[in-house]
Amino acid sequence: MAERLQKVMAQAGVASRRKAESMITDGEVKVNGKVVKELGTKVTDKDTIIVNGVPISKEEHVYYLLYKPRGVVTTVKDDKKRKTVLDFFENVSERIYPVGRLDYDTSGLLLLTNDGELDNRLTHPKYEFEKNYVAKVKGIVSNNDLKQLRVGVMIDDKKSAPAKVKLIKTNEDAKTSIVSLTIHEGRNHQVKKMMSAVGHSVMKLSRESYGFLTLQGLQPGEWRRLKPHEVEELKKKVGLK
Ligand code: URA
Repeated sequence: MAERLQKVMAQAGVASRRKAESMITDGEVKVNGKVVKELGTKVTDKDTIIVNGVPISKEEHVYYLLYKPRGVVTTVKDDKKRKTVLDFFENVSERIYPVGRLDYDTSGLLLLTNDGELDNRLTHPKYEFEKNYVAKVKGIVSNNDLKQLRVGVMIDDKKSAPAKVKLIKTNEDAKTSIVSLTIHEGRNHQVKKMMSAVGHSVMKLSRESYGFLTLQGLQPGEWRRLKPHEVEELKKKVGLK
């Protein structure tokens, strides 16, 4: 069956579908020996697809849940030679990559997969899952701050969607607070920007859950494979089943 080139690349675990599109338009992809830059190109099993000199193959899809520690970058490679989330998966042979991202100094739950289609859906605003974060912030968070976060605050000239917010505790001596925020958007530095918008800079941030998935049973730096029923449920929630 003929399928779009970017879809086949995503299914082969090369990159998300969106990233595959930019690789095509950037001239990184050859079909049967010729560079193809048109996004509408259809290919079949008989076509040879080479991405940056490497032929693609259909890999079995794999799904991992990592407890990302602080001080690790969520990229596949880092120019500054810092530790990356992939360094925890040295013995995994599939070409996996992170679903979305966590900041260098943020810890918590991160999914990794070679399933470009699922990655695409999970990071699409239409399907964004609820994610829970716990933030330690400077200052004592007031009821009014919480109210503003619940309604939505301006970040980068766009209002954030209403968040579920709870004050967990405050330390009057140290003048710090711990806040739980549940959001479904995934904008860059979203939680840090939301907290800054109400006057509290984030000192420490951790993602505790991603939809129905939690960090239970894992220590920072540890990972596990998703169970088949968890993969099924993720797919169902984003309309892939
Ligand atoms: N929000 C942030 O500010 N940083 C993260 O890493 C995740 C969400």
